Amino acid sequence: METIVELCKRRGIIFQSSEIYGGLRGAWDFGPLGVALKENVRDAWKTAMFQLRDDVVPIEASILMHPKVWEASGHVGGFTDPLVDCRNCQSRYREDQLPTNKSGEIYCPNCGQAGTFTEAREFNLMFRTFVGPSEDTAAQVWMRPETAQGMFVDFAHVQLTSRKKVPFGIGQIGRSFRNEITPRNFIFRVREFEQMEMEFFCKPGTDEAWHDYWIRQRYDWYTALGMDPANLRIRPHAEDELSHYSKGTVDLEYRFPMGWGELEGIANRGDFDLTQHAEHSGKDLSYFDQAAGERYIPYVIEPAAGVDRTVLAFMVDAYAEEEAPAAKGGTETRTVLRFHPDLAPVKVAVLPLSKKDTLTPTARRVNDLLKPHFRGVDYDESGQIGRRYRRQDEVGTPFCVTVDFETVEDDDAVTVRDRDTMDQDRVPIENLVAYLDDRFAAARA
Ligand code: GAP
Repeated sequence: METIVELCKRRGIIFQSSEIYGGLRGAWDFGPLGVALKENVRDAWKTAMFQLRDDVVPIEASILMHPKVWEASGHVGGFTDPLVDCRNCQSRYREDQLPTNKSGEIYCPNCGQAGTFTEAREFNLMFRTFVGPSEDTAAQVWMRPETAQGMFVDFAHVQLTSRKKVPFGIGQIGRSFRNEITPRNFIFRVREFEQMEMEFFCKPGTDEAWHDYWIRQRYDWYTALGMDPANLRIRPHAEDELSHYSKGTVDLEYRFPMGWGELEGIANRGDFDLTQHAEHSGKDLSYFDQAAGERYIPYVIEPAAGVDRTVLAFMVDAYAEEEAPAAKGGTETRTVLRFHPDLAPVKVAVLPLSKKDTLTPTARRVNDLLKPHFRGVDYDESGQIGRRYRRQDEVGTPFCVTVDFETVEDDDAVTVRDRDTMDQDRVPIENLVAYLDDRFAAARA
């Protein structure tokens, strides 16, 4: 993990928030390449969820919602973690995350003392704030801890106006906030993060088949984007692990550097949420199924993923160090992020062999040619060409296009270098876009 954190910092992908003030724990900023990577993860999710399907529609709900939403959802009463303090060194922990020693007692990871903890206090994870000028309970609202509730409270409106028939889904990507007691493991557990969630409304009795279907769909999404199946597993929750709303949950877990951890949860929420919101709002949230001639409260299957965790998992999965030929003979260690082309923040780098004026106009022409076709074209003319290749490898750029003296003086062709094999092809500039399109298509297949 240290290696990934260091790489992210060095290349401005992800770094500590408010760093000039010493940073804020559990808060991270995404720099230019991190923004592109995150955007690519979102795009891939939106393509799979919305673009390629007819039965899932998007919404964008607001972060601040009516406070009753969180009473109905169970978050005001139950979204808590057990908080304990070590009496010896005053460190604060989530009780259920503390390690145990050989005699089975929990101990403090900071000072090593066992049996010195305060009684556990239930701590609500929702951030609260106030709407308007007065800071009293009537003005209190919550920063949403999940995006899911937007889909439940908007269900009837979206169903009616989009004219979708059950089974269908509503999804959104957006920020969620949780006042985690122990944010840790880089962007794995943070206080402000982004979720990609979809609520799939189906007829009761068909829910288990849809649950299986969505587990498979989501598993395949990760592997189609290049994730190694050896690092991805499906883990059903035990009965005592289930959330209050769940009839059954399966986690997709990734083998992170610190061990297996939840990447995405796929829950069968039954009719819990729509029933709760119908009761608390007094609005009828049942659905009349014309084909079956019956009215029911739909059941819900929910694939719920985190953008940040997904970014981390893909980065860990893509990371490789290997021995490669060095410019001065012998070998050197090459760091490479073997991103799937759809995820790579830079798709193509344009590298004039030298900074000489004779090369610049042609290199710029190639750059301008590529920009409208590929999101993520990087122009880099500073430093030795070998160093520039290494820089691009390190951020996972699939192709480097080099403009040299032959290009200008002789063949109007460029050299295209493949990130993974380091093989080079000579390609006429007039064929370059088509050539790269073919190579990207082949890498996706
Ligand atoms: N609506 C259901 C729900 O929110 P969850 O398992 O609590 O379920 C879903 O969250 C996903 O959101 C997780 O699998 C994870 O990827 C992401 N997530 C949750 N808490 C997070 C945190 N503190 N930091 C980063 N990602 C988080």
